[in-house]
Amino acid sequence: MSCPDRAFDVPVKKSLVDQFGRSHKDLRISVTDRCNLRCEYCMPLDASFMSQQKLLTYDEVVRCASVASKMGVQTIRLTGGEPLMRPRLYQLVEQLTQLPKIEEVAITTNGLLLADQAAGLAKAGLSRLNVSLDSLDEARFKKIARRSGLQQILEGLEEANQQGFQSIRINAVSIRGLTEKDIVPLAEFCRKHCFHLRFIEFMPLDAEDAWSCEDVLTGREVRQILEMHIGKLSQNNKDDLSQPAIDYTYSDGSGTVGFIDPVSQPFCDRCDRLRLTADGQFRNCLFSSTDWDARALLREGGTDEELQGLLAACVGAKHFSHGIGMESFQRPRRAMYQIGG
Ligand code: 5AD
Ligand code: SF4
Repeated sequence: MSCPDRAFDVPVKKSLVDQFGRSHKDLRISVTDRCNLRCEYCMPLDASFMSQQKLLTYDEVVRCASVASKMGVQTIRLTGGEPLMRPRLYQLVEQLTQLPKIEEVAITTNGLLLADQAAGLAKAGLSRLNVSLDSLDEARFKKIARRSGLQQILEGLEEANQQGFQSIRINAVSIRGLTEKDIVPLAEFCRKHCFHLRFIEFMPLDAEDAWSCEDVLTGREVRQILEMHIGKLSQNNKDDLSQPAIDYTYSDGSGTVGFIDPVSQPFCDRCDRLRLTADGQFRNCLFSSTDWDARALLREGGTDEELQGLLAACVGAKHFSHGIGMESFQRPRRAMYQIGG
């Protein structure tokens, strides 16, 4: 097994409560590192991908999810790369929704393949859909994603609507000098179609190591632009404290917009997330420098109890915060597409 010994020095209490009292209820499962776009904040143009053999099979993913659910995980989000590139994803959704303690299975997708798959995903019991979309302008979309596909995404959103998905969310990453012009058009589009828009601050997870503090267009700045062009925003009361986003309603009552500000307003103190990478590594944080190797354990015939021990060790070693902006901060070796958003 490739886990460092340090991981197992932590007393194995088979629970998902960490040493700071945070209880982990949300598991993000990346099903592939492949993607049909090449967004500059996530993936290099010449990305190389995990071999097929390293990817967890659906049965292996379900086994990990089942163990996690018995330890307290209640919600699952499938991510990538682009999760819809994994063949027959609806079959995995179907299996995960059948786990007795799982209340919700959601997905974060770039929407390119959504028009074809929305019906199958709805039938499989998918509860929620987040679609990443940074620009409604073809040229700027292509500049950011380094491939085209805007029209396909818009068709995907329309189909998802037709299939009756409630509360579709649009995720837009905010980068200074790049995305300012997209803020108001995206907000108007989402108000018109009743999509919930969320702006996410740019994090140091780009593959080309170009991130700098100055590139972060903060949620506060985005809010000021929206208030200047659309109208006053009032902060909503939070119904789920573990949610990282702070949501606002427009003064005319038409629509909501949320802000995820991991850099300017870190929310680590209430983080309830764990991650499983496509190559079968548990991670306790996007910015963790350690992987806990579930794939090796599964393939060596490990028991559910041993998997529980691995997960408990992973949670037990979780740091209090990501430390972005501190001198000691070190970027993780993996970029976003190799972890899962
Ligand atoms: N910073 C912030 N958000 C990012 N995403 C991908 N890379 C980054 C980054 N470096 C977002 C995507 C998607 C979600 C999975 O994470 O836009 O919405
Ligand atoms: Fe693909 Fe999403 Fe990464 Fe863009 S952000 S390259 S759509 S995985």
